[in-house]
Amino acid sequence: MNATNKLGGSQGQRGEKVAAKNTTIQHTADQMIDFINQVIADRSVNRDTIYSDLLENLIQAFHRDQSKSDDSFKVTKDQLFDEMVTMLIAGAENPKNSLCWTLHMIHCNPKAKTKIYEELERLDKDTITCEDLESLPFLLKVYKECVRLFPPAYAFSRKAIEDVDIRGFQIHSGQEVVISPYAIHRNPKYYNNPAEFNPDNFSEKGQKMRPSLAFLPFGAGPRACIGGQFAMNQGHIVLANLLNCFEFEHSVPKKSVKMLPLITLQPSSNFRMFVRRRR
Ligand code: HEM
Repeated sequence: MNATNKLGGSQGQRGEKVAAKNTTIQHTADQMIDFINQVIADRSVNRDTIYSDLLENLIQAFHRDQSKSDDSFKVTKDQLFDEMVTMLIAGAENPKNSLCWTLHMIHCNPKAKTKIYEELERLDKDTITCEDLESLPFLLKVYKECVRLFPPAYAFSRKAIEDVDIRGFQIHSGQEVVISPYAIHRNPKYYNNPAEFNPDNFSEKGQKMRPSLAFLPFGAGPRACIGGQFAMNQGHIVLANLLNCFEFEHSVPKKSVKMLPLITLQPSSNFRMFVRRRR
């Protein structure tokens, strides 16, 4: 009797926890939906200032397409909203993960950390700008190496639109094919000791030694990431400024930080760092 009660009790508590989490997720999603709708509405109504950005282009396409009377492709309100959600999520979640992993790996690899600080000290500037990035080549190699080891988009898929034979593998029309940058990035065919952190994988020589698609963090083809090059520059400059001003140190044992493969490859939720100002 007691055991049943105990079991019932703990399942009940778990159920309540899950329900509370779902409510929080729903609340956050609602806030995001409201925010995006508000931005679109404000921009659509208030035409005094014309911005030069993606949202402006989409709004213009939407208004232009309203007057089309034929059946050709039209930008709809739903599409406008979906594009904004994609940009907001794809443009924030993946860079956040890659920055966290890079700060984690820098702290786990003191030699790399010293080399990065040497680069920054040679530059000796309060604020690092795009023009300074070419003076920080080692930091870029470290960033790429961390994206190799922990690709935020660790798997994505494509649906075959017709039967195809890829080196003897028969893929039939309608079948889903999963491509995993994580598996490709850790394939010993392309990287020596693939699980080891080695920024030299991205030296000029290292990069020439393997096919270009052996590094696939942004996908490939017509549906590849539209923010790929931007994301590389963004990561480089954000890391440069963060590390220039602050020192990061784990506040939990390094080894306790695990990979959490959800929609993106995140560090586990215990991931915390102390931040100390250095400049
Ligand atoms: C480290 C950072 C990033 C990584 C690893 C990353 C990765 C990816 C990958 C792998 C895809 C394609 C998935 C597929 O092929 O099915 C993708 C798509 C996309 N990414 Fe990124 N991304 C990053 C940053 C960004 C940024 C900064 C933006 C926007 C400013 C962005 C916008 C998008 C959009 C809009 C798509 C959808 C493209 C389409 O469906 O045609 N991403 N991203």
